[in-house]
Amino acid sequence: MKTLKFTNGDMPILGLGTWKSAPGDVYNAVKEALKLGYRHIDCAAVYGNESEVGKAISESISEGVVTREELWVTSKLWNNMHGKSNVVTAIKQTLSDLQLDYLDLYLIHWPVPFKKEVPAASKPEDFVSLEDQPIADTWLGMEEAFALGLSKSIGVSNFSIKKLKDLIGNCKIKPCLNQVELHPYFQQDDLVDYCQSVDVHVMAYSPLGSSDRPQGLKTADEPVLLEDIKLTELAKEKGVSIAQLILAWAMQRSISVIPKSVNPARLKQNLDSADLSLTEHEMAQVKAVNKNRRYVNGSFFAIEGSPVTLENLWDL
Ligand code: A2P
Repeated sequence: MKTLKFTNGDMPILGLGTWKSAPGDVYNAVKEALKLGYRHIDCAAVYGNESEVGKAISESISEGVVTREELWVTSKLWNNMHGKSNVVTAIKQTLSDLQLDYLDLYLIHWPVPFKKEVPAASKPEDFVSLEDQPIADTWLGMEEAFALGLSKSIGVSNFSIKKLKDLIGNCKIKPCLNQVELHPYFQQDDLVDYCQSVDVHVMAYSPLGSSDRPQGLKTADEPVLLEDIKLTELAKEKGVSIAQLILAWAMQRSISVIPKSVNPARLKQNLDSADLSLTEHEMAQVKAVNKNRRYVNGSFFAIEGSPVTLENLWDL
């Protein structure tokens, strides 16, 4: 499988997403994925399932399915643990849940600090503004986690070009990756061009459009990526599934993908997409379906009175 190069080694370009994988399901999904040959798992404290992912990884290592060194494990700092003094505590909890000594990659999940005692912000007072809790201060904690060897590399998620530029201009260790929503309906060309121009890798979350998002994160009229008529036709002509076509398109742009599945057949299908290549014409046909449609638009943070607005979150 194609890999993306980091100072700490090579990351398999395709990994397993675990967002929305219910406890119970995620254990089986990780075990099955590792048996199938997945070597990259994407996790986060806020997904609430890291203990189960950890159990599956630990058992798979004991059973000889995989070694720790062969695996790439990513996790993310949740919003209520922003701030230099909190990061090491947060990553140690994640490592304990995942039963690991180190992560391969640790990301700031969102540039959206919450108060420490608030895991899920629901009212304006639950948030802390970026003036009061600057990203650069949280990044010092990320650098500390790196220096302690708790994570072999560090990066960010949901960062705009502006936020990434500000951070790069104000840090000792450059973030090595930005994980963002990216799929054929939301292609993010400017962000990808910027990241690739400054050697920051891009990882796509919701690469298949995350149609299993909670209802509260959906709108009534939204287009369903996996039902796109043009992509369905193109996939049929090529003899692959629409999911495989979409994943192959992203990987061909050197973008890492982390499709979530808890279904063995779809896990296998997604893994096999790493072997596909698209012609220039096929790449252009996928490019043509772009709708600039963000599915995970952050409106759950932009509640009235909170310091977060969609404009300042995405720097529109
Ligand atoms: P399931 O877990 O039952 O396989 P995303 O990765 O963009 O968040 O999308 C995840 C959603 O896409 C889940 O509903 C998942 O369902 C579904 N999915 C994952 N792989 C495939 C596939 N190859 N074909 C169709 N649906 C898929």
